[in-house]
Amino acid sequence: GCMSCHPAGGGVGPDLHGLYGMTRPLADGSTVAADEEYLRESILNPNAKVADGYAPMMPSFEGQLSEDELKQLIEYIKSLNATGN
Ligand code: HEC
Repeated sequence: GCMSCHPAGGGVGPDLHGLYGMTRPLADGSTVAADEEYLRESILNPNAKVADGYAPMMPSFEGQLSEDELKQLIEYIKSLNATGN
């Protein structure tokens, strides 16, 4: 599901490679540190902070993921950095 909107190189949503740890520009002109808290919020409440250059059209996954699944997703997004691909 996630990768249909978040393919490498970007699609409807931003490419998630290299996201973790960066300073993320937001649509409202502010920036946020892309840490675990930001990743968590971006999945549960995507419209709270909208990534600059993208439409706020990601559905909320609140209630659809267990805490374990959410943690795995966050670890997965973090791993997209470590491997460099
Ligand atoms: C219908 C398409 C769609 C689906 C499905 C989707 N996303 Fe998104 N996502 C987006 C869009 C568009 C944005 C940018 C706007 C925003 O920040 O809300 C985004 C933003 C994000 C961000 C913030 C990215 C950044 O560069 O700051 C993360 C993290 C994210 N999504 C993770 C996920 C995960 C994990 C899933 C699967 C559980 C998922 N998305 C499913 C469309 C989608």
